[in-house]
Amino acid sequence: MTPTTLATSDFDYVRALVRERSAIVLEPGKEYLVQTRLQPVAQRNGLADIGALVDRLRRGEPALATQVVEAMTTNETSFFRDAHPFEMLRTDVIPTLMESRKTQRALRIWSAASSTGQEAYTIAMTLRESFPQLAGWAVSILGTDLSRDVVEKAKEGRYAQIEVNRGLPAPLLLKYFERAGLAWKVKQELRRAVEFKQMNLIAPWPSIPRMDVVFLRNVLIYFDGDTKRAILANVRRVIAPDGYLFLGAAESTLQYDRTFERIQTARTNCYRLLQNS
Ligand SMILES: C[S@@+](CC[C@H](N)C(=O)[O-])C[C@H]1O[C@@H](n2cnc3c(N)ncnc32)[C@H](O)[C@@H]1O
Repeated sequence: MTPTTLATSDFDYVRALVRERSAIVLEPGKEYLVQTRLQPVAQRNGLADIGALVDRLRRGEPALATQVVEAMTTNETSFFRDAHPFEMLRTDVIPTLMESRKTQRALRIWSAASSTGQEAYTIAMTLRESFPQLAGWAVSILGTDLSRDVVEKAKEGRYAQIEVNRGLPAPLLLKYFERAGLAWKVKQELRRAVEFKQMNLIAPWPSIPRMDVVFLRNVLIYFDGDTKRAILANVRRVIAPDGYLFLGAAESTLQYDRTFERIQTARTNCYRLLQNS
């Protein structure tokens, strides 16, 4: 199938749909992105082109709309992405929380927008490698994402060689993964340490318990200011008063939520609720 020019009305229809379902903003100029992402969806559904796909969407097909929204998510991620947040987790965050939680002996960590799971598995490996004392604690690591496809991949824990080559140190690959044909699969012991669920950050959050650490990295960038504010307000409700929030390197709470303060280290930063908020 050769890409055809995307009609403005079709582009507008797709961007309104994507915004309504995911809050992802597709600015004018992203026509090419829509074309390249939706061409395979049209093909998979036996449709001649994106015009035909949008016709079907207009007639109201929820399953097709889900495929389109999921295709428009950017699922870029890797093990130990940006390295420094995981270093801060290891050197500052977990030691502080272990001290303050030593009576309850429980910790909850959430990778919100976990994509294909590398972030959540990185957290699990970091805890196992550096805090063997946590073996006697109730530690829960939750990964959630809008896209059912990436959640399924995360649950399966199967990664291509090229994916494990990106950021995963060889000793950890050998310790926590096993060969699965040409790919690598997370060993059951580590897979059991992480739970993955589908969740839309712009829907209500009734099932999210109090969290000690929230990783909300590289997802706010896709949203407009009001959505960022609304999501950060929800984070404020679920995060422990002394909990920690990690955002992506290009993201910040500062413009959107004054109840968080930035905690800076030499190489990275995270956020905590201001103590009088
Ligand atoms: C670039 S990935 C970030 C993955 C990981 N946090 C990291 O930093 O490597 C962004 C993820 O956000 C998810 N996403 C986008 N909109 C979302 C929404 N409304 N609710 C939940 N997840 C969403 C996408 O499906 C995608 O997997």
